[in-house]
Amino acid sequence: IKGYDVVNGFPLPKSLKIGMFYKKWKFHRDIPATPVFAYGTSALTATVPGPTIEALHGIGTHVSWRNYLPSKHILPWDPTIPTAIPSTKIGIPTVVHLHGGIDEAASDGHSQSWFTSNFKQRGPTWTKRKYHYHNVQHPGTLWYHDHAMGLTRVNLLAGLIGAYIIRQPDIEVPLGLPYDEEFDRPLVVFDRSFHANGSIFMNSTGNNPSIHPQWQPEYFGDAIVVNGKAWPYMIVRRRKYRFRIINTSNARFFNFYFTNNLTFIHVASDSAYHERPVILKEMLLAPSEIADVVVDFSKSKSDSAILANDAPYPYPSGDPVNEANSKVMKFIININNEIDKSRIPNELIKYPSSDESPVADTRYIAMYEYASSTDEPIHLYINGKPYEAPVTETPKVGTSEIWYVINLTEDNHPLHIHLGLFKVLDQTQLVNEDEFKDCMLKYNNAIKCQVSKYARGEKIEVPAHEKGWKNVYKMMPGNVTKILVRFSFIHSNESYPFDATAEPGYVFHCHILDHEDNVMMRPLKLIA
Ligand code: C2O
Ligand code: CU
Repeated sequence: IKGYDVVNGFPLPKSLKIGMFYKKWKFHRDIPATPVFAYGTSALTATVPGPTIEALHGIGTHVSWRNYLPSKHILPWDPTIPTAIPSTKIGIPTVVHLHGGIDEAASDGHSQSWFTSNFKQRGPTWTKRKYHYHNVQHPGTLWYHDHAMGLTRVNLLAGLIGAYIIRQPDIEVPLGLPYDEEFDRPLVVFDRSFHANGSIFMNSTGNNPSIHPQWQPEYFGDAIVVNGKAWPYMIVRRRKYRFRIINTSNARFFNFYFTNNLTFIHVASDSAYHERPVILKEMLLAPSEIADVVVDFSKSKSDSAILANDAPYPYPSGDPVNEANSKVMKFIININNEIDKSRIPNELIKYPSSDESPVADTRYIAMYEYASSTDEPIHLYINGKPYEAPVTETPKVGTSEIWYVINLTEDNHPLHIHLGLFKVLDQTQLVNEDEFKDCMLKYNNAIKCQVSKYARGEKIEVPAHEKGWKNVYKMMPGNVTKILVRFSFIHSNESYPFDATAEPGYVFHCHILDHEDNVMMRPLKLIA
């Protein structure tokens, strides 16, 4: 659906009304219809994923998000982690975040700005019914999804996901990439498991039930779903297509490749274009990362191609993929040759380089897993602080900062920052990690624990296609990842068209949703 109107040839802002509905959704011919929560303009037309919103650079989109969900959740949840719970205990808290959006805090979908059906119950930071998306940022791919405190993993599992594209034709059309509806498509990918009756399977018992009766550290499903269908196929013409691949899984990383040696021509990562395309045989996508790629089916020697996955789960040291979750989708390639006017330019979009903005501050962001005596995780605080602890990350609007993200766990955590975009500068392995970790567990202070003494191991080169502006990145276990975060636009030096210091502020968190919920998330509050 379009996020703007066109009147007398001029684009104008538009107001949309998008609801969240309970309905049944067919994921696969052989799976009975599945109860889901779906976004849409009516229960009848609601879909999983929700409608793709097409916005236009410079033209605002207003969305009044409406909750029409029933009084009880379709999935098990856990009140022992910090959770949005209505005082009446009735209704399902929801709140929508536009992932990758540079928007005012009141429209950012803050976890505590939740609301239930008919706005009957509202979270402590709730202020408005209608969200304003400015769309003044650089063009690219975003996605919207639920963000309610402690319920994000179950609300997304239930289906509250959708793509959002900001287009800027005057600078994108001249690039010559596939750009129209038929050849430029979002692929919203996630994993799910189902009961025999079709309902979504989620473990209702936690792996440490005496502490958390339901919470599990990672959700994985065996069926791979693309645009709402499990292991679908798509008939394509023998020409170039552009796919905006969004990994909307709770915890699954995908390492995508084609079984017939087709390549990905990577043009943008997350929401931002690179300076030049990068050709890849495989690409690793953490939860919430976006790969904007062109695939040229005219280069295929076979008449079909399978998009496959070989990332272990949990990533990187979990189980290898199996027959089911190693396959993503199939492309059946039309035999006829095509006239294809699209092209891959040598140069894409050059944004001001990161070192043009002076660094105002340096921060250390440490990720921990606190485990019980049986080695089962209890929670995953950032910097040893629960979510509710007073805000510690208070960047100044318009500045850049260096963040050293120290991963002291065994998992790779995709760190996502609201509002700010960042460049990954390097990743360095920790030496004598255990010694450093002991100190950190005691003092939670990277400087006191002399992080520079330990961050001296092997350096991992940032892949070419991940050197641009990102909003989420894979923080390698046992490594310190240095990022430069910019709290202003990347395409211009204009200041935000809203007061970025306003309440309730923003957040940053791990985008493994089960981690985010328990609570690998912290507030982010900008100051003037
Ligand atoms: Cu896509 Cu705060 O999340
Ligand atoms: Cu995590």
